[in-house]
Amino acid sequence: MADVLKVIQLGNPDLRRRAQWVERSQDKCIQQLIDRLIATAQAANGVGIAAPQVAEPDRLFIVASRPNQRYPYAPAMEPTAMINPQILAHSDECVKGWEGCLSVPGIRGLVPRYREIEVKYTDRWGDLKHHLLSDFVARIFQHEYDHLDGLVFLDRIESTQDLMTEQEYQAREGIESLERSNQSTVISS
Ligand code: NI
Repeated sequence: MADVLKVIQLGNPDLRRRAQWVERSQDKCIQQLIDRLIATAQAANGVGIAAPQVAEPDRLFIVASRPNQRYPYAPAMEPTAMINPQILAHSDECVKGWEGCLSVPGIRGLVPRYREIEVKYTDRWGDLKHHLLSDFVARIFQHEYDHLDGLVFLDRIESTQDLMTEQEYQAREGIESLERSNQSTVISS
């Protein structure tokens, strides 16, 4: 298992910097960073993590959706490194869903995101990938992509009324499947 890295938190200026294009995805330091980011996301029950969150200014992130304590309804997939990701197109439709962030502990926000996005990225083996992503995985991609531009989900919420503590969020989830109902809430088209 690779080393777990320290995740920097809101207020650290490194979180607000624009990350740089990765020129050599096959370099050992990039491959090692990928392994460490995957280990760090797993250790923290994260469904994604971006390099700037461990103060590495590279345009790369991990999408690692799987059901866990923080996201019980997340679809399962292998942790996937996405290097130099780009959003090529998106649906008109946006949906609001609850997000959290390892760099903003203890807070959830109801964040509008495009329901579907067309993306390309380089995978860890250097191959160019082109995908259509939807719903929760598209949400993770957009959240992590924002980190590469120095943005966090708090920058995307429409109102401070759309914030909740993690404790309150967990308590409410037990009552009603809040996350699932919100995932299908259409807010614009
Ligand atoms: Ni985040």
